[in-house]
Amino acid sequence: MTLSQPAKRYGVIGNPVAHSRSPAIHEAFARQAGITLTYERICAPRDGFAATIGAFFSEGGAGLNVTVPFKEEAFRLAEGQLSQRAAMAGAVNTLWMEQDTLHGCNTDGVGLLHDITRLGHAPKDRAILLVGAGGAARGVVFPLLEAGCARLHIVNRTAEKAQALSQHIIDHAPESVGRVTAGGLDHAKGPWDIVINATSSSLTSAPPALPGRLYAAGALAYDMFYASGPTAFMRQAQADGAGTVADGLGMLVGQAAASFAIWHGVQPDTVPVLETLRNALSEP
Ligand code: ATR
Repeated sequence: MTLSQPAKRYGVIGNPVAHSRSPAIHEAFARQAGITLTYERICAPRDGFAATIGAFFSEGGAGLNVTVPFKEEAFRLAEGQLSQRAAMAGAVNTLWMEQDTLHGCNTDGVGLLHDITRLGHAPKDRAILLVGAGGAARGVVFPLLEAGCARLHIVNRTAEKAQALSQHIIDHAPESVGRVTAGGLDHAKGPWDIVINATSSSLTSAPPALPGRLYAAGALAYDMFYASGPTAFMRQAQADGAGTVADGLGMLVGQAAASFAIWHGVQPDTVPVLETLRNALSEP
């Protein structure tokens, strides 16, 4: 008689987390790979992240995705067992246990690269404007540099935060001096090949206060956030002449695929999953 193994347990932890699409994405990847798993949404109290993940793993949980507002705390808890990507980003979105020790990685940057490459705008040799200097921006700067962009200019409503992020990059990657610059939103002067919105402005209906004429011919405008229709940033970019505008749904699927690969050793096909998710999102 063979006893079947119980399904391994995964989940996404955040607060709020009720609207997370991660369960549907990981379940679809698992079907592709013929892997049996469970993937749940876990809402941790804001002051109870460490206790909640402690309970999850001590009850046999295998892996967690981490979302707002816990990525920095996950980074601190996994300190010592961080991937280079997580160490550079200062934030963790993927946790797992190995030899009874908590490990952390950050797959957000890989997810973004995967998606902008899918859209035909691989960053190599491109001039990139990154708008925003919070956690979302921090998670993607090193992968963009590693991918060989010609320039990375970071602008933020609070210019000092952009300058601090640029200094953080130069401290960790001194070879990027000259390639990385920073300023306020009014210092965003184009033309840029790729403009990425990493501000949380898309949670409101107003786009960031960027100057016009930002886009080189055929340039990509990419919003790291997504919604059922075009975001305020995407509409602003279209009016300003961007060649392609995209939201961050593909980045979400891309970061999930990279987490899946860490946990299961299988690289899933993102294309059909993104298509299903897009259709579900645009349903009334
Ligand atoms: P996240 O983890 O989502 O990046 P965060 O760390 O709080 O969240 O950072 C939010 C980012 O969005 C910051 O860059 C913030 O600019 P400030 O540093 O000046 O606060 C930016 N942001 C939020 N709302 C914005 C708006 N309406 N216009 C421009 N930038 C905005």
